[in-house]
Amino acid sequence: MAEADRPWEVAAPFGLLAELTHRCPLHCPYCANPIQLTPRADELTTAQWKDVISQAHAIGVVQLHLSGGEPLARADLPELAFHARSSGAYVNLVTSGVGLTRERALLLADRGVDHVQLSLQDADAGPADYVAGARAHQCKLAAAKAITGAGLPLTVNIVLHRGNIGRTARIIDLAVALGADRVELANAQFYGWGLLNRSTLLPTRDQLDASLVAVEQARTRHAAAGRGPHIVHVVSDYYAGRPKPCMDGWARRQLTVTPSGDVLPCPGASVIRSLPVENALRRPLAEIWYDSEAFNAFRGTGWMSDPCRSCPSRHEDFGGCRCQAFHLTGDAARTDPVCRLSPDRALIDSALAQAGGLPQADHVMRTPPVADARTASEGR
Ligand code: SF4
Ligand code: FES
Repeated sequence: MAEADRPWEVAAPFGLLAELTHRCPLHCPYCANPIQLTPRADELTTAQWKDVISQAHAIGVVQLHLSGGEPLARADLPELAFHARSSGAYVNLVTSGVGLTRERALLLADRGVDHVQLSLQDADAGPADYVAGARAHQCKLAAAKAITGAGLPLTVNIVLHRGNIGRTARIIDLAVALGADRVELANAQFYGWGLLNRSTLLPTRDQLDASLVAVEQARTRHAAAGRGPHIVHVVSDYYAGRPKPCMDGWARRQLTVTPSGDVLPCPGASVIRSLPVENALRRPLAEIWYDSEAFNAFRGTGWMSDPCRSCPSRHEDFGGCRCQAFHLTGDAARTDPVCRLSPDRALIDSALAQAGGLPQADHVMRTPPVADARTASEGR
C-alpha cells in the first residue's frame, strides 16, 4: 500500500463554521444555505452555542467563523464573540452588513471579533439590490465604513455570476475604495439555491475569460497605486475541468454546526441523505469529529473508486466535492463530475452548452424558513 493510502490519521480540526441562524434580510439566489432552512424556534440557545464553542476549542479549533444566514440577527452575537475570544479563538464575523452600525461594530470589536468578512452583491445599488431582493447596498457601504472605523480588518466577498461578472473591475475598485484588506471574488457554486438557479447564474466562457483579464488588470492597477489588497479569484470549477480540493479534504480541517446543532463535515453535507446526521445536543463534538460515520465516510483516499483511486492527483484534490457528486449523480462516492476524467463529465458539459440561455428574471429567490415566514405574516 502506498504511504499516502494508509488508513487516514485524523488531525484536530482547525476551524469551526458556526451557522448561528438561517434568518437573513437578503434573498440571494446563490445562497449557500440549504433549501430546507432552520426556523428560529429550532435555533440553539446562547448557552448551547457557548457549549459548542467550548467543545470546539477543547478539540483544537483555533478559528471560529460566526456566520449564518445573518449572524447579526442574533442578539447574543457580542456574548458569543466574547466567549469564543475568551476561549482563545480567532473570531471572524461573516455578514451581509445589514444592521451593522458604527455602534455595533465598535461593540463587536470590543467583545473580541478579530476580522469581518462583508458580502457585496455588485458595484451599483440597482443590480445589487435586485439580486439581494432587498435594498441593502447602501447599508453595506455604511457597514464597511463602520468596520474599518472600528479598526477591524475587512475582507470583501463577492459572488460572481452571469449578472455581475461583466462588472468585475468596478466591483474590485469599489472594494478597494471601501478599504478592503482582502477581496474574494468567488464564482457562484452550484449547490442548494445555486443549483436551483444554475441556468440563470452560470456565466458564459467569454464572460469568464473577460473577468480573468479584468482581475489581472485590477491587480496591476491597484498594486501600482500602492494600495493593493490581496485579491483572491475562485473560478467556477465547471470551466476548470479539474475539481477543487473541496473543504481541503472531507472532514480534514473544519466542521460546521448548523443553527439547530447538526454537525456536518461541510456546510452543504446535509444534502447527502445517505449519511447519518449528528447533532451537538446528542453527542460530544470530539466523538463526532473522530468517530462518526458521517465524518469518516470520505476521509483520505480509501473510499475512492476509479478513476480517482489510481489517479496521481487524488492527494491534491481529494476527488473533488462530495456534495457536488451527490447533487449531480445521486452518489456522493462518485468522482466529482467536473473532472475531465469523470464518467459523468457530460452532465457538466451539457450545463455549459446552455450557459447564457435563461434571463436572470427567472431566478428563484431564497425564501425564509417556512415557520418564520408564517410568524412574520401573522405579525408575531
Ligand atoms: Fe481528481 Fe479523481 Fe479527477 Fe484524478 S480522477 S483529477 S483524483 S477527481
Ligand atoms: Fe460539501 Fe464540497 S460542498 S464536499
